[in-house]
Amino acid sequence: MIDYQPLYNTLLDAKADALVKLLPQQLASAFDSTRHGRLAQWLSMVECLPKLTATHHLLDDDVVQIGRSDDLPEADRMELEHQLKVLHPWRKGPYNLFGIKIDTEWRSNWKWDRLKNHITPLNHRLVLDVGCGNGYHCWRMLGVGAKMVVGIDPLLLNVMQFQLVRKLHGEAPVYVLPLAMEELPYGLKAFDTVFSMGVLYHRRSPIDHLLELRDCLQPGGELVLETLVIDGRLGEVLLPEGRYAKMRNVWFLPTCETLISWLKRCGFTNIRLIDVTTTSVEEQRSTEWMQFHSLKDFLSTENPRLTCEGLPAPKRAIFIANSA
Ligand SMILES: C[S@@+](CC[C@H](N)C(=O)[O-])C[C@H]1O[C@@H](n2cnc3c(N)ncnc32)[C@H](O)[C@@H]1O
Repeated sequence: MIDYQPLYNTLLDAKADALVKLLPQQLASAFDSTRHGRLAQWLSMVECLPKLTATHHLLDDDVVQIGRSDDLPEADRMELEHQLKVLHPWRKGPYNLFGIKIDTEWRSNWKWDRLKNHITPLNHRLVLDVGCGNGYHCWRMLGVGAKMVVGIDPLLLNVMQFQLVRKLHGEAPVYVLPLAMEELPYGLKAFDTVFSMGVLYHRRSPIDHLLELRDCLQPGGELVLETLVIDGRLGEVLLPEGRYAKMRNVWFLPTCETLISWLKRCGFTNIRLIDVTTTSVEEQRSTEWMQFHSLKDFLSTENPRLTCEGLPAPKRAIFIANSA
């Protein structure tokens, strides 16, 4: 069981009392195992994991590393690998846990490499990572000195993957909470840096998402926003008529100029576009740890610059901006 008291103390120091008030009830409701078919199994698996002693932690590296293979007898390592595989599919990583290499669907370190030299150093900052998946980037943020990292993600499988990794790591100022952005109380103004990566296009109202992000930041705080974009001019946006790359839940894909205008309109200042990259089938692919279809199955077989629906293939941009 995670001890949330250090989180509450830090949030109270940051005057995020409204969140501290809500969290116990939200956590109790999210972890109510009668509400999800496999949650009871996942919770008891993490709870029953023995306390392992890792002789090595490396968070500031492409592969998040906890423990070495020598730290565990072979039979225990095989048991741990089996437990990790119960939580398939592993989408964000990579990790090396006591010598077990989790080659995830995404090489999430590539995204981190694109932004790490552009952001304000995270030393001593209170960080929120919205839609953090299993928390891979949260560990990287901690690895470069963040005071505390709070990830939120509504998908319980992601939260349980994080909890398993955290149990292997041991106590640390990093948390992944089972919450959607829109469940955070309004008016927090508590975080020094807020990341939203891969979330905006999942929201039916992208402007509300930007306003909610702004609202979590301290005045002058930094937003790091990564999302799908299309080529084109100011004012142009793609709203897929049906699926996009087989995903049902993709809504607005703006051009970079359009997104900059949205950020301005939402009151952000000092807006910078720092990277635009077309996602490659080397960055997102099926692996032993994510055995479902992946990007190559979602692209047109005749023209890899298009999705299988004939829309522009995934291209992602990263923006940095400040709250006023
Ligand atoms: C494409 S993944 C991105 C994960 C990670 N941020 C990254 O960039 O690698 C999007 C994540 O956002 C989460 N998500 C979807 N809707 C959300 C919402 N309303 N609030 C917070 N997270 C959300 C999903 O569960 C998923 O884990």
